[in-house]
Amino acid sequence: MNSPKVSVILVAAGRGTRLGDGLPKQYRQIFGRSVLQRAIDGVRAALPGAGILTVIAEGAEALYQASTDGDRPSAVLGGDTRQASVLKGLEALVEEAPDIVLIHDAARPFGVETVAADLVARAGKGGGVAPALEVPDTLRRAEGGAFQPMMRDGVWRVQTPQAFLYAEILAAHRKAAGQALTDDLSVAEAAGLSVTLIPGDPRAFKITTQADFDQAETTVLAALADARTGHGYDVHAFGPGDHVMLCGVRVPYTFALAGHSDADVGLHALTDAVLGTIGAADIGAHFPPSDLQWRGASSDAFLRHAVSLVAAKGGIVAHVDVTLVCEAPKVGPHRAAMVSRLADILGLAADRVSVKATTTEGLGFTGRREGIAAYATATVRLPA
Ligand code: CTP
Ligand code: MG
Repeated sequence: MNSPKVSVILVAAGRGTRLGDGLPKQYRQIFGRSVLQRAIDGVRAALPGAGILTVIAEGAEALYQASTDGDRPSAVLGGDTRQASVLKGLEALVEEAPDIVLIHDAARPFGVETVAADLVARAGKGGGVAPALEVPDTLRRAEGGAFQPMMRDGVWRVQTPQAFLYAEILAAHRKAAGQALTDDLSVAEAAGLSVTLIPGDPRAFKITTQADFDQAETTVLAALADARTGHGYDVHAFGPGDHVMLCGVRVPYTFALAGHSDADVGLHALTDAVLGTIGAADIGAHFPPSDLQWRGASSDAFLRHAVSLVAAKGGIVAHVDVTLVCEAPKVGPHRAAMVSRLADILGLAADRVSVKATTTEGLGFTGRREGIAAYATATVRLPA
């Protein structure tokens, strides 16, 4: 088949119950990018010419928007099972009628590039093809209250993407509707199509449990060997007002911090720390106080911009540490909220975010309660 028309269906309509309560796993962040966005990025890099269709759960539209970049693929609603979700995706492509379709779990953010070209080439010949790995461990099956030995030889773990001629897999899925088949190769097989396995990539594991999620973090870090630390410092004076903004959190107080933006001294120091890791000057160079558009601006925009500059270099922010210096207001009662706000802005796990506070024992301008100072460090990781 000469340059076939290829579509990729990314199934992302699951609830992620095995990973635990809260956000479904495909919408969780790994260093500032959601699992789903990483899956999209992987597919785009591996198959630049392919169309992508995402299948999301009913009611997840806002979540999909919030956890993907602006140029996100279009989405259709899935069903109660993976199989039902895939069928919805296939039906949505009827008009487009691609030659070849790859069906891929959004919960597998890595490793598509290893197999994509081979899958497309083989799928052109008809039947189903999927990447798979041999099982290295000895296997036992739970049976009658005991664990019975099982033959390991010839046992393979099947991954995604799985590739097919679109017309063949659409017909097979329509025929299999309502069954409980956990992958598309099984659907193809049930319809009498031949199936082939090609060598998979261990990095294409499916995130299912917390241990997998931790492994996903490690996988991202492992590719980013250039570790850098940046430092930032900022001061704002008190002026009239009834609250201060500190690390993105509104803290009631008898004064406000004076400044051009919302004067969030913690976010400003942290923004400078992140800029420092990539030698990108300072916050004033990016957001000049003379520019009216930053008057009263919420300072999280500054930090997000600094993080986006790191991301543009293929890097991530791995850890931040902020120290606020003031006699008052008291930071302690708001510390957890600040950590959670920073973690949210940065897309980081809370244990990679630190907010500390100290007084200066009545000494100096902070001791005289004239203003607040903040110090910050940021660690980023870049491709070596
Ligand atoms: N999936 C889907 N529609 C469903 C169920 C699953 O699109 N009704 C997708 C998931 O989003 C995931 C892939 O199929 O990308 C593999 O499924 P699985 O790992 O089982 O994910 P979840 O069903 O979300 O997780 P769990 O089984 O732990 O609830
Ligand atoms: Mg499931």
